[in-house]
Amino acid sequence: MSQNSFYITTPIYYVNSIPHLGHAYTTIMCDIFKNYHQHLGEETHFLTGTDEHGDKIDKSAKEQGMTPQQLVDKNSQAFRDLLGPIDCKSDDFIRTTDERHKKVVQTILQKVYDKGDIYFDEYEGLYCLGCERYLGQDELVEGKCPDHQKVPEKISEKNYFFKMSKYWDQLKQHVEANPEFIKTENYRNEVLGLLKMEPQDLCISRPKERLTWGIELPFDKNFVTYVWFDALINYISALGYPEGDSFKKYWPSSHHMIAKDILKPHCVYWPTMLMSMECPLPKQIIIHGYWLVDESKMSKSIGNVVDPFKYCEKFGSDVFRYYLFRAMSFGKDASFSHEDFIAQYNADLANKVGNLYSRICGLLRKNNENKIPDLDIKQVTSPLPAAFEVLQRESAAAMKAWKPHEYANSIISFAESINKYLDETKPWSMLKKEEEKQQAFGVLKTALEGVRIIYCFLAPIMPKTTKTVLLELGIDPEDIPNQRKIFFALSNNAPLPEAPTGFPRLTSEE
Ligand code: MSP
Repeated sequence: MSQNSFYITTPIYYVNSIPHLGHAYTTIMCDIFKNYHQHLGEETHFLTGTDEHGDKIDKSAKEQGMTPQQLVDKNSQAFRDLLGPIDCKSDDFIRTTDERHKKVVQTILQKVYDKGDIYFDEYEGLYCLGCERYLGQDELVEGKCPDHQKVPEKISEKNYFFKMSKYWDQLKQHVEANPEFIKTENYRNEVLGLLKMEPQDLCISRPKERLTWGIELPFDKNFVTYVWFDALINYISALGYPEGDSFKKYWPSSHHMIAKDILKPHCVYWPTMLMSMECPLPKQIIIHGYWLVDESKMSKSIGNVVDPFKYCEKFGSDVFRYYLFRAMSFGKDASFSHEDFIAQYNADLANKVGNLYSRICGLLRKNNENKIPDLDIKQVTSPLPAAFEVLQRESAAAMKAWKPHEYANSIISFAESINKYLDETKPWSMLKKEEEKQQAFGVLKTALEGVRIIYCFLAPIMPKTTKTVLLELGIDPEDIPNQRKIFFALSNNAPLPEAPTGFPRLTSEE
């Protein structure tokens, strides 16, 4: 059953921040992978949502003179409102304040407690409010949390602990035996490094004297659940764990996409929690790097955030999605710069894709009444069917390996081979001679099939433009799963648009 399904999740975002490019990136990438798997004919499920409990929310609500519930309702909506402008279509949006979620968290806590995997103890540690977790000495840089640039607070209190150490070796063996479990490779090594350290247990509660904004422990009313133990469970509570049909259908093909900031909770806490509750582990955890601005991680606390709404409004969501998809070498950090955004757009979309389509249409407008030539191009000898095979092979390998930038590269290389084919055959010269006209039409129609294929492959990334262009070519956008597999599909004599959709060149002032 799991073979034909594909479940992908974003982290659930903290609602004390406003959505910025970093959040938009992970959500867009998940949406693109979901679309891609849909085009492969799989049944997909895409989950995103918001993480709403914890110290930070409680503090910000007090500062803003609101109740925590009022604050989370307002801010969760901002993350939901991001989806439309970035053109992401999630199948579900989970909030950790949803009753459906709270119920599952409590069921799991009780199960793990009854199993003897939770104990009560006193603990003193260094707590980073930004990370909402205790940090080890080895994680500090010059005594500070490297992500939040703050000295963590020394806290000592009685709490409940999860016996994470009990599952440490089992997890290590799983990571070692399954090279695909954690992608990309550099982060897998980082996790193996963490697992070489002394096994740790995890503090999973907060006393109500200090914090009330959380899910009450089912076995002790004086405590609420630690946010990470609560939040990670969203991935299965949203599917109706343990009995829900969606859980049975999608969990075996689960993929969590995150950035490296939350590697430890996802690659250590979560799998050990699942082991304790006797639930299979996610299929893959996919980790990407940071978007940086001037060498610093983009974050609200530093104040260097790029606003995704503005970019989508000005340039359209497709163009923004394309840039993010193409420009970050997945797994590594990338710097966001407006100049680079414009340069990449011009180099790929304006010069190689849009220009190609408009050149072909221009010649057919002048010489063939703006129609697709009426001829069988199966007989035309051209390098494009072979280039198409390369595209199919390379793009599939790139997506399987979670290397989206390489998927984009394979499309652009294919566009380059079509441009080269035109430059070499020069149909504009052939059109001047009556006896070479048919040959020129053969070239143009073959190249136009190439344009159709480019858009079928761009479809997961740029759904809107793809839909428009395919309709212009007389192709049903619903048929993409089939269209992306074939080289010959255009209808003879179908009319072409007067003004084909393209990508006008931009200057960096724009
Ligand atoms: N609430 C937790 C996650 C719980 S999941 C069970 C959390 N929230 S967060 O709002 O801080 O979101 C972190 C995630 O946002 C990152 O893992 C990443 O997906 C995305 N990003 C936030 N800033 C980013 C960059 N500057 N660059 C890339 N991704 C970024 O952690």
